[in-house]
Amino acid sequence: MTLPIVRTVADLRAHVAGWRRQGERVALVPTMGALHEGHLTLVRRGRELADRVVASVFVNPTQFGPSEDFSRYPRDEGGDAAKLASAGCDLLFAPTVDVMYPAGFAATIDLGPVTRRWEGACRPGHFQGVATVVTKLLLQAGADLACFGEKDYQQLCTIRQLVRDLDIPVTIEGVPTVRETDGLALSSRNAYLSAEQRQVAVRLNQVMRDVVAALRGGAPVAPALEAGTATLLAAGFAAVDYLALVDAATLEPLDQPGPGRLICTARLGAVRLLDNMAV
Ligand code: PAF
Repeated sequence: MTLPIVRTVADLRAHVAGWRRQGERVALVPTMGALHEGHLTLVRRGRELADRVVASVFVNPTQFGPSEDFSRYPRDEGGDAAKLASAGCDLLFAPTVDVMYPAGFAATIDLGPVTRRWEGACRPGHFQGVATVVTKLLLQAGADLACFGEKDYQQLCTIRQLVRDLDIPVTIEGVPTVRETDGLALSSRNAYLSAEQRQVAVRLNQVMRDVVAALRGGAPVAPALEAGTATLLAAGFAAVDYLALVDAATLEPLDQPGPGRLICTARLGAVRLLDNMAV
């Protein structure tokens, strides 16, 4: 089946309104394309929860910093459309930058503390860009629910906060991270890894699992995190931007063992690998 593609907000709304008239529930899966099994899992989850699934593919310039990979971010609309169709998607919304940010566009959504630490500190402005584009996509599609991966855990917390704060009538469905058989979390940016870096990358997940086990066993937090960071650096990571135990909702750091989320970003060359796990 060829997937219908719409590029304007009016066409997107016309499709969604048609489904609604038939009493159908609609799920939205926002993406930046370069789709992999993780994205297709979001589409399948949307399919389980709703009658229709709309995916968006939009490489959002406002969430990339000046020295980040916006221009070289992988783009393959034909390939993405074929994958979406095979996963059961009903419609692709693929707007241009001018549709999303027409001349004179000036709004920015800033969600405050949940966006300041961790990725927010490493990538200033990133979550304002994400929150702004996701707000627009949610309002444009008017879906009943929207699916986001737990892989980008701080992004998921930010989106939950924006839906709460702005009373957007949509349910946010967090979907567990999809991993390679060796445990590496799927990411479009894994394509940038050399064969040698790929061998090191798998250690991220393994080391984090060891830290989770230590914390669950009652190990003191700071030494467990320091040991995990040292092990990652010894394994070949160029830098560990953070390895932290945080409150699962506010992302504030926890210094005592207990339920929370272990979050980490480690760098291999120019690639930043993110992962997180429940503790
Ligand atoms: O996770 C992503 O792919 C992007 O950050 C999102 C949510 C589609 C917003 O551009």
